[in-house]
Amino acid sequence: MDVLERIDELRLEAERAVAAAADTAGLEELRVRFLGRKAELPNLLRGVAQLEPAQRGAVGKAANQARQGVEALIEAKVSALATSELDARLLADRVDVTLPGSPTRPVGRLHLLTATRREIEDVFLGLGFSVVEGPEVETVVNNFDKLNHDPAHPARSLSDTFYVTRHPGPEGTGPRVVLRTHTSPMQVRSMELQPPPIALIVPGRVYRRDSDATHTPQFHQVEGLWIDEDVTLADLKGVLLAFARAIFGPERDVRLRPHFFPFTEPSVEVDVSCFQCGGTGALPRSGARCNLCKGTGWLEILGSGMVDPNVLAGIEANDYDPEHWQGFAFGLGIERIAMLKHGFPDLRQLYDNDQRFLGQFG
Ligand code: PHE
Repeated sequence: MDVLERIDELRLEAERAVAAAADTAGLEELRVRFLGRKAELPNLLRGVAQLEPAQRGAVGKAANQARQGVEALIEAKVSALATSELDARLLADRVDVTLPGSPTRPVGRLHLLTATRREIEDVFLGLGFSVVEGPEVETVVNNFDKLNHDPAHPARSLSDTFYVTRHPGPEGTGPRVVLRTHTSPMQVRSMELQPPPIALIVPGRVYRRDSDATHTPQFHQVEGLWIDEDVTLADLKGVLLAFARAIFGPERDVRLRPHFFPFTEPSVEVDVSCFQCGGTGALPRSGARCNLCKGTGWLEILGSGMVDPNVLAGIEANDYDPEHWQGFAFGLGIERIAMLKHGFPDLRQLYDNDQRFLGQFG
């Protein structure tokens, strides 16, 4: 057969095969079959030199054109197929990431401490207090001195308080620094930041060297401070009664007992009537002694008092003249409120991260 006819035949054969190919893998096979090292068309091209000189030009040209034509055809078909293969794969692999998992996972819940803090914040926001936060690493000046603590006050001792370091500077010259033992230093900071009147609460972590069923070295308090021209002990009682009722139920009552804090005068401890026995000290059915309030009918919930004039007088940057401004402060433990309200015996359960315990709340 004439070489030129054979070239034509090969080209037609290749064109038909390419048109019929269904996927890119099939096209790769065709590329090898028609254009590979052992294929007929490239062989013909390589053999051109052995042909009669008169034939060489025509055969070489025809074989070259045929090869290029087949190459281009395969190339075009490969890119067409690659696109549709990708489309098909994308369609098959489509996953709706917005569908719930299977089986559906339970959503998380707030930790009891977080829920209790927010509940407390809501009550005071509703009464017109704002919520602020302050540093957990605090100066001795703010934590003790400006809160009217005697230089020999026992809370200052190394056995009660975590001392951190001295401020930068030559050893011993900077102010001493502690992990705050209460949120009360924020009374000082807040008043030094803004002029009176002031009404705010301060939730946050505090630290003491204490550890047993009702004390952890790190716990949470909420400080309260309300200073105006005529805020009295009656306001203190009214605000804390509203708080106690919001948290422990509308039937609750509060009572104030005299106490001592260096930074309030007078100082009081505040009790709420026991919600388990209704304040009677005895359980309704059996008449047995109430185990929650130990038969007293009252539960201690916080410390409080009228801000000591010495504290007001020590405020720098703003004028809190104690002849003109007065008010109250209080401090409560969030863990303690949660324990009382939910009746669990060991405060450390809040920090064990045991879902069997935490999962019961919220
Ligand atoms: N800071 C006190 C404590 O931690 C509580 C308190 C705050 C008492 C404000 C009076 C006024 O025990």
